[in-house]
Amino acid sequence: MTSFAEAQECYRHRDLRQALYDAGEVIMSDVIVNLHGAEHRDRRRLENRLFRRDTFAYYENSLFPEIIRGTVAPYLADGHAELVSFGHELMMNLAALTSGVDRPHGTPDESFRLYSYLTTFIEGATLAHYTGDKAAKAAEVQTKLEEFDAEFLLPAVERRTNLLARLAAGNVTEEDLPRDVLTVLLRNQDKIPMAHESLRREIAFYLLAGAHTSATAFNRVMHNIFQWVAAHPEDERRVTEDRMFVQRCTHETIRLQPSSPTGMRWALEDITLSNGRKFAKGDRVILDLTVINRDPELFGADAEEFNPDRTLAAEVAPWGLSFGQGMHACIGQDLAAGLRFLDGDVLDNHLSGLVPVAVQTMFDNGCRPDPDNPPEMDASTTRPYFGRYPVVFVR
Ligand code: HEM
Repeated sequence: MTSFAEAQECYRHRDLRQALYDAGEVIMSDVIVNLHGAEHRDRRRLENRLFRRDTFAYYENSLFPEIIRGTVAPYLADGHAELVSFGHELMMNLAALTSGVDRPHGTPDESFRLYSYLTTFIEGATLAHYTGDKAAKAAEVQTKLEEFDAEFLLPAVERRTNLLARLAAGNVTEEDLPRDVLTVLLRNQDKIPMAHESLRREIAFYLLAGAHTSATAFNRVMHNIFQWVAAHPEDERRVTEDRMFVQRCTHETIRLQPSSPTGMRWALEDITLSNGRKFAKGDRVILDLTVINRDPELFGADAEEFNPDRTLAAEVAPWGLSFGQGMHACIGQDLAAGLRFLDGDVLDNHLSGLVPVAVQTMFDNGCRPDPDNPPEMDASTTRPYFGRYPVVFVR
């Protein structure tokens, strides 16, 4: 599928079922993005209770700034960083809070182990694109999932179960509960029970969905801004002075380089789209976002290029279809990329999104590509990820 309108209809069609994660079963089999119909609707309704505007504002204004400062501080002191691992470390720290993975010891070693689980889970979810031995990798992911459970998930479940019991006994208040996915799921086990293995996959998925997509976007936004400023030196001051410039660059990056370049669905029935196009039951429908998001009718004659200053009709989202649409539309979109800033909006209470906030922090601290150490691509996957991206901080 290469047309925007057809893709929108496919995302919303109830007889088209998720197909993107069939190879990643070990971690993805029954997580929200892979459920369909009533099962998906119930899970989504439950998790939507957390993913509301007030929670995003609470994360962005109260919870995240300290984590961002704390994560970047050692690198500022060193004067350099490697963006791929830094981006994942930062986004993992934020996603751990959102998903409900505690780090009771707070030691670098503990974070390092969580990071190692996260990288294996990412490989598990994107197994279809893995270039090595897929069966061996799937077995490794399962082992890591069990180790993650023993080390991180079980203590996190226990802490929340105790808090919920104390809430029921009137010993603590709502404000004492963590605002995360794990708490929401545990609190509603009576209405929507989940086996522990399912809970484990869901939390591992949230950890990777929150961390990996945002970290990849973070890296690409940094790269695109470096390139834009090199070609438009007059815009260098905008990176630090115009608070919405970085957000526009983020939306433009996500349009051109979606975290997942394709959407994929199985036709559960024979289907006819409103323009007459037909799919037979069992067809696999592929939505090619790299073409759809570059439609010149919607994004202009220069749609192939990175241009944070493009003007768009109000109904055209600057990120195209990169957050999906319909029932599986990204639950973390506003958290990751904030809200689009429109004429008349007020900067003070504008939700910027964690990717723009993280990128802004880097530029506010004089981040530049390391002139002696060029970036390299990641050879272990067929997807276009950077493998290494050394940067320096110049004040
Ligand atoms: C730049 C960042 C992100 C991008 C580009 C992105 C992209 C997407 C896309 C394309 C989908 C739909 C998949 C489909 O329909 O096949 C999706 C779903 C989802 N995303 Fe994101 N995402 C991002 C950040 C996040 C964050 C920060 C979170 C966590 C809070 C998150 C959690 C989810 C979840 C749970 C779903 C499944 C929703 C459902 O099935 O109902 N995402 N995301």
